[in-house]
Amino acid sequence: MEVVILPDPAAIASLAADAVGALLAGRPTAVLGLATGSSPVAIYDELAARYAAGTLSFAAARAFTLDEYVGLPADHPETYRNVIDAVFVSRVDFAPGAVQGPDGLAADIPAACAAYEAAIADAGGVDLQILGIGTDGHIGFNEPGSSLASRTRIKTLARQTRIDNARFFDDDIDAVPTHCLTQGLATIMDARHVVLVAIGENKAEAVEHLVEGPVSARWPATILQHHRHVTVLLDEDAAHRLQLADYYREAYRGKPKWQGI
Ligand code: F6R
Repeated sequence: MEVVILPDPAAIASLAADAVGALLAGRPTAVLGLATGSSPVAIYDELAARYAAGTLSFAAARAFTLDEYVGLPADHPETYRNVIDAVFVSRVDFAPGAVQGPDGLAADIPAACAAYEAAIADAGGVDLQILGIGTDGHIGFNEPGSSLASRTRIKTLARQTRIDNARFFDDDIDAVPTHCLTQGLATIMDARHVVLVAIGENKAEAVEHLVEGPVSARWPATILQHHRHVTVLLDEDAAHRLQLADYYREAYRGKPKWQGI
């Protein structure tokens, strides 16, 4: 696990966009994994800016989103499908149908989850997964207690997550759906490179567990300690509880330039 502590979201976005750019330059047909929520928004802004500048194209790429609320009407602005379209997909040149997400309105939810797993596998798996992290340590919507071997399935959102996400629903926690479909922890672990971004003091506890805590379903993101290629991009506030922060800074400063993240 590589931990990179940067001064602000713009620096994080630039480094993450460099990794996406390098991937697409080597393989234009690469498969991206897209998180929603506020953490990756600056990354999507940077990717859209590079597309607008003509230095990046997603025309041959594909992408899979992590999760979706269950039961929100298709035209609700807060479905993760509509959010990712608004903040990223509609601003770049993905081909029609190239970006897929779990179907939160499926009549047969287990079948929809199995189909989603199959679609990711048929695409050859995710090359680069962009992740956020919840204040309770979730990735995707794998809440505390999630099986470390889980695949795409229905989950009940933790009350803390519904409180955190009420800001997208006019601060009305009752308007936040109670259930979601989410890629499982094992699904996320199949991605070849995971780039997790955390910004702000309210993520510091979850980041401390993620990077320096024991691996446990209590803090689901800790499973990433078993992944061979994880990059954790943090601002100073999110990093402030890390005991080994100085070591991470030194390691990143001294890294050979050719290595990328
Ligand atoms: C979103 C997702 C969640 C968020 C997490 C952090 O698709 O899977 O795990 O990444 O809840 O959300 P923000 O970035 O809004 O703090």
